Amino acid sequence: MQRKSDVIVIGAGAAGMMAAIRAGKRGRSVVILDHARAPGEKIRISGGGRCNFTNIYSGPKNFLSANPHFCKSALARFTPADFIAMVDGHGIAWHEKTLGQLFCDDSAKDIIRMLLAEMRIVGAVLHLGTEISGVEKIESGFRVSTSEGNCEASSLIVATGGKSIPKMGATGFAYRLAEQFGLAVLETRPGLVPLTLDPGLLESIAPLAGIAAPAEIRHGRTAFREALLFTHRGLSGPAILQISSYWREGDEVVVSIEPDIDIAAHLKTAKQLNGRQSPQTVLGDILPKRLAQFLVEREKISGNMADLPDKALLRLAAGVQNWAVKPSGSEGYRTAEVTLGGIDTAALDSRSMEAKAVPGLYFIGECVDVTGWLGGYNFQWAWASGFAAGECV
Ligand code: FDA
Repeated sequence: MQRKSDVIVIGAGAAGMMAAIRAGKRGRSVVILDHARAPGEKIRISGGGRCNFTNIYSGPKNFLSANPHFCKSALARFTPADFIAMVDGHGIAWHEKTLGQLFCDDSAKDIIRMLLAEMRIVGAVLHLGTEISGVEKIESGFRVSTSEGNCEASSLIVATGGKSIPKMGATGFAYRLAEQFGLAVLETRPGLVPLTLDPGLLESIAPLAGIAAPAEIRHGRTAFREALLFTHRGLSGPAILQISSYWREGDEVVVSIEPDIDIAAHLKTAKQLNGRQSPQTVLGDILPKRLAQFLVEREKISGNMADLPDKALLRLAAGVQNWAVKPSGSEGYRTAEVTLGGIDTAALDSRSMEAKAVPGLYFIGECVDVTGWLGGYNFQWAWASGFAAGECV
């Protein structure tokens, strides 16, 4: 292990590798430590193995934080176009899937290979399988004690991510270290996570497990239009993951299925045109058949369209497009894609990510209280905050 360097980065994930690359490009000697056996494990599994590495529409509005202005500076100085230029420079083919989300054509491993190649070019030294046992402030900067010996540097960048997916090595390391140095840590909770339902409701929707439909999910004034997925545990799919970051225990969310279609008008027209059809058949023209049947049965509606008063049709339509559900909880950090909350941005300089009270100490990526929507925003924050720190160490 190299004993002395200008910069030590703890965490060889998206943010840490980007910081190492930028610092190395500026001529800094960089040592990067990670307890895992491989770097960028979350990149590897991201985007279903294709890594949704950025979002071309990424902007401050796509991030949650106690201070929504904090992310602006870093996001402005390393943009999706900057990351795309890096990807293009390595000849990695990509495509836009939907809503500005960019994915690798082939494999997320291409992104990891790219970052490792860039680190090699600038001479950043990576130590994997390295447990960190302590960090202390010394006169010349910081001393990090590890299972492979001690190392020292004038700057220390902490990029150990959040608590999501502990099975993959996620730890609360960054939060503990922040507290050790007197930085405030805001309450953390799982984000971009499936929501669970209580056993009674779950039993009634059990036959729907596996069914997906376009939906709008609302929580207060926040709404997302993407796919909704019924699962064996409750509700999932991109629309639910998105709203989960806004949802709090005890709150309701309002589900509108096929929000682009006026279901009430559709039912009334169908009644006029062909009253002998069943409501299941009419709804089944728009929705998956099993879902249509469930929704009709849930409203205890029977008979043909001609038999149904308009009031019943409106009730049925409301069941489809104004369904208030109170989730019992979330699947937690076990499956959450991100951790909300974390190191209070008030303690950090938004241009450099440096702790205001501890010169030379930087926090970047997911451990900071900046959390993106689903769709490539979280990696964009990792790249941008990593770049910001790498630019200033
Ligand atoms: P990250 O977690 O990537 O890296 C932290 C590193 O620190 C790891 O290498 C870890 O081993 C190391 N570490 C942790 N504790 C340590 C300790 N005590 N000692 C030493 N090392 C330690 N985002 C997105 O924009 N597009 C996408 O497609 C996806 N897809 C996705 C899928 C799944 C299943 C998950 C769980 C998450 C996503 N995300 C995503 C979110 C994205 O993965 C996440 O926001 C970034 O990886 C965060 O990058 P960081 O570098 O901050 O942490």
